[in-house]
Amino acid sequence: MEPRKRLSIALVTQSVYAMQHRKLQGAGSRSLGSTPKQANSTTNAPLSYSFELAGGELAFHRLARRFYQGVARDETLRPMYPADLGESAHLLALFLIQFCGGPATYSQQKGHPRLRMRHLPFSIGQQERDSWVFHMNAALQSEIENAQAREFLSQYFERTATFMMNR
Ligand code: HEM
Repeated sequence: MEPRKRLSIALVTQSVYAMQHRKLQGAGSRSLGSTPKQANSTTNAPLSYSFELAGGELAFHRLARRFYQGVARDETLRPMYPADLGESAHLLALFLIQFCGGPATYSQQKGHPRLRMRHLPFSIGQQERDSWVFHMNAALQSEIENAQAREFLSQYFERTATFMMNR
């Protein structure tokens, strides 16, 4: 094939790939619960960098446990969850570790996240969403030291919690 033709095919392929990537990362897309492969949109840094910046696996486990301490005291949220919140905290930590570019243990155990689908059995309106975000922001304040990582996670949680609303 002519070199110029080959080059233009390569460029078209590349831009289609880039468009798909942007779509995958776009706010409001159905992929909010999946693992974006490139950079995070707030810091423009690779996601593995966010993972390190947040403090690695231990920090996410601490974050999830702290979050569920808030849920345990919340009259709106508590009745939605199972009696033992330990497993819920563990799953949330694994999911966040994977989302931020750490090990993909969550998907090895549970398959594709499909977060919105997994939340359909629960009735989630404005009040549930706001309580969830409130406890998560409190947990972020106490467990994530790095301000940039906190800001990235906080923005991600705001939009993802809105996306989980189903009434
Ligand atoms: C908007 C308010 C939300 C409510 C009321 C809510 C509620 C729930 C409930 C009741 C469960 C089931 C718990 C269990 O079976 O252990 C659950 C699971 C889960 N939630 Fe949420 N959730 C919300 C938002 C979010 C957000 C924003 C995220 C992530 C960014 C998230 C991540 C998860 C994960 C990873 C699981 C475990 C799913 C699994 O693998 O079974 N949730 N959530």
